[in-house]
Amino acid sequence: MIKSFNTVLSQKAKEPRLKQSFVMVSVLLATLSLLVSLQGITSDQSDVGLNTVEMIENHGYPCENHYITTEDGYILTYQRIPHGKNDDGSGQKPVVLLMHGLLSSSADYVNMGPDRSLAYLLSDIGYDVWLGNSRGNAWSRNHTDPEVLADAEKFYDFTWHEIGYYDLPAAIDHILEMTGNDGLYYVGHSQGCTSFMVMGSTKPEYNDKIKLASLMGPAGFMEHQSSSLLKVLGNHINEIEKLMKKYKFFELPDPKLLQQLAFGLCTVPENYQLCVNFLAVVDGEDSAQLQQEDFALILSNAPSNAGSKQFIHYGQQIKNGGFLWYDYGSEQNLELYGSETPPAYDLSKITAPVAAYYGKNDHLVYAEDAKTVVKSVSNVVNDYEIPYELFDHLDFIFAKDVVDLLYVELIKTMQAY
Ligand SMILES: *[C@@H]1O[C@H](CO)[C@@H](O)[C@H](O)[C@H]1NC(C)=O
Repeated sequence: MIKSFNTVLSQKAKEPRLKQSFVMVSVLLATLSLLVSLQGITSDQSDVGLNTVEMIENHGYPCENHYITTEDGYILTYQRIPHGKNDDGSGQKPVVLLMHGLLSSSADYVNMGPDRSLAYLLSDIGYDVWLGNSRGNAWSRNHTDPEVLADAEKFYDFTWHEIGYYDLPAAIDHILEMTGNDGLYYVGHSQGCTSFMVMGSTKPEYNDKIKLASLMGPAGFMEHQSSSLLKVLGNHINEIEKLMKKYKFFELPDPKLLQQLAFGLCTVPENYQLCVNFLAVVDGEDSAQLQQEDFALILSNAPSNAGSKQFIHYGQQIKNGGFLWYDYGSEQNLELYGSETPPAYDLSKITAPVAAYYGKNDHLVYAEDAKTVVKSVSNVVNDYEIPYELFDHLDFIFAKDVVDLLYVELIKTMQAY
């Protein structure tokens, strides 16, 4: 039984926060909490340094790890929050799968804490919540073939195409088998949308297993990409690909080290603007919704591992236009696809109900490109440009007001399907 989301929100608001025993103490606390609320929702710093499982357990929710093997041998680790805190887990629940973006992980859906992160909000209203980890990220770096496992060139020989073609179908089969449900709700952010679109168009039989796909910042078309850095990189993607191969740069080098560097830099107040400016290059201007205190939480798990080919495949979309299969060069394309250029993904084959959410200040997935996705898929049930001028690419996950700006709408739409 799904509780109304508004009921949960109002219950959360009613939870007693102040002890009334001494008037003085109350007044002091009230003043303090007013000061805090003026600065936005405070983040729960007790999650700093914890991974996805530890964060979930830190807040008293149940958490399971699931190991899912794909048809091509990758062993993925997905997390599951089978039921909410005040729920014994009995009875059939609707199932939702949350899929993160590039360079990220399942941590995205819990690291802003129980009042703000989508996994908890959905768990609290009765969903069985599954958190994906795409192949190659910190949780999904295992393979059934020891030879592939030992060879970065072989292991990281995939793009988001394979995440959509192999990972998602394997995960959906596993989840439906474990829960006895005949379909699930899908929520993706960025690459989590790209891989969904790959699955829906290349394995159309999976559309029937999707009750609703909520796509937040649906990355695919990059034709309106104008961020000068990404545009330049995209236009030279073939040369970059050759260099990466030559120097055996098959995966992002040591994300743990990058995390530590960024953590050291960005959690110091004096450097905050530097970090925001750096993010603005790709994410969107201003970062008005990003709170300084959240950097430590974000950088506890991001960036996560990713393969170079994932970036190259996106760069090809900037260079070639459209939303196309991987470009291996004319000779190999001819062999693989029967044409010198890669074919386009046929998005009209995506017949599952789709709700699309996109931001006006998103510099990775421009609103115009998101609208092309909306026009291309077959069954759009909610076409929602977030009504906030400064909403950018990371705000889907980290905005201080993400619940009001987006999740209320997203969850209401889910509950209607
Ligand atoms: C990787 O998968 C194998 C099964 O193929 C398993 O025995 C092993 O424990 C896994 N390694 C890790 C680090 O999880």
